[in-house]
Amino acid sequence: MTHNIAVIGGDGIGPEVTAEAIKVVRAAGVDIATTDFDLGGARYLRDGEILSDEVLAELRAFDCILLGAVGTPEVPPGLIERGLLLKMRFELDLYINQRPFVGTAPGGDTPHDFVVIRENTEGPYVGEGGVLRRGTPLEVATQGSVNTRHGVERCIRYAFDLASSRPRKHLTLVHKTNVLAFSGNLWERTFNEVAADYADVATAYNHVDAACIYFVQDPHRYDVIVTDNLFGDILTDLGGAVSGGIGLASSANLNPARTGPSMFEPVHGSAPDIVGTGKANPTAAILSAALMLDFLEEGSAADRIRVACADPVTGSTTDVGDAIAARVGN
Ligand code: IPM
Ligand code: MN
Repeated sequence: MTHNIAVIGGDGIGPEVTAEAIKVVRAAGVDIATTDFDLGGARYLRDGEILSDEVLAELRAFDCILLGAVGTPEVPPGLIERGLLLKMRFELDLYINQRPFVGTAPGGDTPHDFVVIRENTEGPYVGEGGVLRRGTPLEVATQGSVNTRHGVERCIRYAFDLASSRPRKHLTLVHKTNVLAFSGNLWERTFNEVAADYADVATAYNHVDAACIYFVQDPHRYDVIVTDNLFGDILTDLGGAVSGGIGLASSANLNPARTGPSMFEPVHGSAPDIVGTGKANPTAAILSAALMLDFLEEGSAADRIRVACADPVTGSTTDVGDAIAARVGN
């Protein structure tokens, strides 16, 4: 069966790492048809297109979207991130951001293996709020965090399902219930209610500040973590840092209800300073493509890619892609 993939290489090193990911997927014997979409900061500078409703409608026809990285220094910060990345997350209802971390923390000796499930369509990311009297001493800025029972519950249920499918069957809720009394209470109550449906899953709760310490000092305590959009954003950069670096950090933006294509991207950015030098590590993009294959029910190819990425390869971007492709082909 051919899987139809929309490819948004994007800016900077995005196209370079995405090309290696596609190379590895093909080497693993998975039949994909790719269609390139020229989107990102460079495209915006050319003709003003960020992500129009027409292009969004075209993307909806694909099985999945593979994205490299977007953003270029010539475009005001946040414009492409919100107009392209966040717009896809919201409009395609990619309500789960799944980020696996397998690695050994600096100074540690045994590898950890945990997954962060980050709510991906609500929280402070929705852009609720505004500003009054801008630029004056009486300026007021508010930025709301939106948490719906529906949004919180579907995210928590996904995390319980995932925990239930893993050997350790353990799920930790991370929030800041001691201060964020309203949203924290909704998350905590929903978590406890859903837990009653999963007798096989053991649960824990950590405040987000404490979780930062555990990520560094005791990551082995974690199996699956579920948390809100902003805590998940921050925690997953830390997760990358304690798991071999951001060059290995992969992510899946999922619509588990499959009412639209899911989107797969490395956690890292466009790194314009190293574009064209061959220094970009394509491993995060390759591991993101493996997450895409999991979602396309090509799990055995995905597992072979993960095994092939486990032993580090040195060399240029294409050297690393070629070496991993050769390993999965065998
Ligand atoms: C991420 C990124 C994005 C986010 C930015 C680029 C908007 O940091 O995917 O983690 O904050 O979600
Ligand atoms: Mn981030």
